[in-house]
Amino acid sequence: MGPNKLKFLLNKVCGVLGLATTSAVAAAASLSTSTAPKITNAMDELQTLKTKVCIIGSGPAAHTAAIYASRAELKPILFEGWMANDIAPGGQLTTTTDVENFPGFPEGILGFEFMDRCRNQSLRFGTQIFTETVNKVDFSSFPYKVLTDSKAVLADSVIIATGAVAKRLKFLGSGDGPKGFWNRGISACAVCDGAAPIFRNKPLAVIGGGDSAMEEATFLTKYGSKVHIIHRRDTFRASKIMQNRAHTNPKIDVIWNSVIVEAYGDGEKGVLGGLKVKNVVTGEVSDLKVSGLFFAIGHEPATKFLDGQLELDSEGYIVTKPGTTQTSVRGVFSAGDVQDKKYRQAVTAAGTG
Ligand SMILES: Cc1cc2nc3c(=O)[nH]c(=O)nc-3n(C[C@H](O)[C@H](O)[C@H](O)COP(=O)(O)OP(=O)(O)OC[C@H]3O[C@@H](n4cnc5c(N)ncnc54)[C@H](O)[C@@H]3O)c2cc1C
Ligand SMILES: *[C@@H]1O[C@H](CO)[C@@H](O)[C@H](O)[C@H]1NC(C)=O
Repeated sequence: MGPNKLKFLLNKVCGVLGLATTSAVAAAASLSTSTAPKITNAMDELQTLKTKVCIIGSGPAAHTAAIYASRAELKPILFEGWMANDIAPGGQLTTTTDVENFPGFPEGILGFEFMDRCRNQSLRFGTQIFTETVNKVDFSSFPYKVLTDSKAVLADSVIIATGAVAKRLKFLGSGDGPKGFWNRGISACAVCDGAAPIFRNKPLAVIGGGDSAMEEATFLTKYGSKVHIIHRRDTFRASKIMQNRAHTNPKIDVIWNSVIVEAYGDGEKGVLGGLKVKNVVTGEVSDLKVSGLFFAIGHEPATKFLDGQLELDSEGYIVTKPGTTQTSVRGVFSAGDVQDKKYRQAVTAAGTG
């Protein structure tokens, strides 16, 4: 298939997804524009830009918003971040290989390539993209201010699509680098990495106690010889139905009241070989041979830079008015995983953009 045809297809796909009248762009576009803004002294050393729409983020939600806003000639400015929360511009999909569940790509598409296409599509219609991380916003006066290390943007409306990051635990051997087994047996996404050859017919472990831990453990039984769920308490908070699914699966067992104190390697191979697991009731440390460990302990939405200026829920997700992208501040909208703790998929992120 030629590049034009693919571009056309993607345009269509994103178009279909963004059609909802609740989309962040439609809402932003309906806002009246401001009168000439006054620039404050504190911003003197920063390059100041003005825009009708400033988009923060670089995943499917941000780029869908950018495509719609730029096609509506709102001349959006988009900050894609520079390793914001340790993720490359392009967002979470840049950390995976094939995306196989996004409609329009029957053969699957590499996550990185998919996001590059979305970015190119945003550029094509005139979105101005800066590879900078937003570290501060000011929604206390209008126009709103969006600040990076080098720029201050005065914006009539702001769309926040900064996504979320899967949480990771820290213990000896859990990190990146030569002494850690991150990405060499340790992962935060069973659905993404579970099928890798290093996990086939090997004992695996999942850490967590919620629905996603049950789901990931059940999913991993397709590949592993055995799946141990390690949980720090003596009960799960997962729903009954998900717990049952895990409990009745003969390949799954549960290690209660336990935490991981260390991950160690498999001889000279440089991949995960096993875990030291500590029972928090008895204090006893035991050895668990596994070739894979999957964190299923939740996600953290990227909202710290907002510094309390928008209403967030107890887990830090941006609260939007049900069925819309409106936040607690008029003219500030939010789309994608940063306001969605349920679906967390590329297609839903794009749909809210
Ligand atoms: C390993 C893995 C595999 C996955 N596989 C699939 C799959 O196969 N199919 C599927 O549908 N979904 C998959 N997902 C989920 C999917 O990636 C997310 O649902 C989707 O990417 C969410 O999009 P988003 O637009 O909300 O933002 P994200 O993709 O979360 O991207 C937001 C990005 O914005 C940038 N940013 C953050 N803060 C700032 C800031 N302050 N200033 C500027 N920029 C900032 C960062 O680059 C950040 O990563 C996967 C997720 C992971 C982690
Ligand atoms: C995006 O655009 C650049 C510059 O035109 C091009 O080199 C690149 O191949 C494009 N990416 C994709 C995935 O088509």
